Amino acid sequence: IVDIKGGPDEGLDRLGQTLVVQGWVRTQRVQSSVTFIEINDGSCLSNMQCVINSDAEGYEQVESGLISTGASIWVQGILVTSQGSKQKVELRVDKLVSVGKSDPSYPIQKKRVSREFLRTQAHLRPRTNTFGAVARVRNALAYATHKFFQENGFVWISSPIITASDCEGAGEQFCVTTLIPSSREAIDSPVDAIPKTDVGLIDWSQDFFGKPAFLTVSGQLNAETYATALSDVYTFGPTFRAENSNTSRHLAEFWMIEPELAFADLNDDMACAAAYLQYVVKHVLENCKEDMDFFNTWIEKGIINRLSDVVEKNFVQLTYTDAIEFLLKANKKFEFPVKWGCDLQSEHERYITEEAFGGCPVIVRDYPKDIKAFYMRQNDDGKTVAAMDMLVPRVGELIGGSQREERLEYLEERLDELKLNKESYWWYLDLRRYGSVPHAGFGLGFERLVQFATGIENIRDTIPFPRAPGSAEF
Ligand code: 4AD
Ligand code: MG
Repeated sequence: IVDIKGGPDEGLDRLGQTLVVQGWVRTQRVQSSVTFIEINDGSCLSNMQCVINSDAEGYEQVESGLISTGASIWVQGILVTSQGSKQKVELRVDKLVSVGKSDPSYPIQKKRVSREFLRTQAHLRPRTNTFGAVARVRNALAYATHKFFQENGFVWISSPIITASDCEGAGEQFCVTTLIPSSREAIDSPVDAIPKTDVGLIDWSQDFFGKPAFLTVSGQLNAETYATALSDVYTFGPTFRAENSNTSRHLAEFWMIEPELAFADLNDDMACAAAYLQYVVKHVLENCKEDMDFFNTWIEKGIINRLSDVVEKNFVQLTYTDAIEFLLKANKKFEFPVKWGCDLQSEHERYITEEAFGGCPVIVRDYPKDIKAFYMRQNDDGKTVAAMDMLVPRVGELIGGSQREERLEYLEERLDELKLNKESYWWYLDLRRYGSVPHAGFGLGFERLVQFATGIENIRDTIPFPRAPGSAEF
């Protein structure tokens, strides 16, 4: 007796064997002399069709309605060639046991339910084809990420989730404090007993950390400390942004992959980003065939060809200045007007990668320094920084990265210019005082990668429990 795991063809070499399958009932059809049930254990997209005759041990459980959609079940039987056209093999059941029955109110009975509805059922949606496939592809992308960096000699670093510094300087942090009473106290006390959360009014010395602390927006600054000791490193962990953007590309909690390369410049950084993306996409195409076929048929027609191109083609590179020229010449009216110095909006990013360059990933480099973070290395023109964004079809910005300012005097000058508090960056500046090296890195939003690799339109459907403005259930 073995546990069957794997894709639709996997069973063929086990024909004639007695197997045990445990899973959840997807459909059930009772005919006069025989009952068909399809069960799925999440190991692959295909269901196992089980054929149950009335002489099977435990058949009375079928009769008493215990084996309905959503129920969990244990079956044992012989794997035989299927008469049906949908599957190659099926299980001729000789014994079944109801493990957990399913109440008739089970909310995902129907074959097709909208993804909006399923967002309200985040605890049950992994039992659908789409969300099962997304979870497996997400897992494969995470595995391939570690594999790529490990094979290339990078060391994985855990960056802290709670931090006092704002890496991106965009003021989009969630504050972590013990000064707000626990919910129980808050309920028991009058509303005006709750301290005001205005940072200026709070006596931070009374707080747990003794000063304001936040959920991290990026692990980059911490990764830099390890890159200037261990050479190439990467982080892969959750990051948080309180930006109030209700879009299909933003989450309040998302996972980021942040490699940091020592003794490296922007060209090394861009080469690493392209090699990484090609590696993980290839891994998914090779290892998630059944799920990718599903996305290709039901979610985004042609996605397999699109991704195969990504693996094979060289990515386009252009400077920000050229990108602006391009957009100005475009025969298209944008909602946000374009001029040198403006931040590229998602409509511009998508135009560049989808229309101007025919669906190929595009790397835009050398952005104006005024729209980028303090840590980016100044170019000799005095106007731009050694930054790069990788833009991909459907998603827009997938990666943001840069060469870091390794020259102490330039960095201090930039902190002053931006009126950032130099004292609080003392440790970051130390890295430039003691054995500074040219270094560069990037951040890739993992959920945007899942979007790109599956064709799923809304980022909220790429993470098991999405956090967005107004939604923190489950
Ligand atoms: O461009 P960003 O802000 O860059 C950084 O945080 C750098 N510190 C990274 C580095 O150089 N180590 O963010 C990087 C990527 C974006 O390109 C995008 O893919 C993703 O993170 N991202 C988000 N993904 C989902 N929801 C959000 N709210 C996101 N904000 C950024
Ligand atoms: Mg960015």
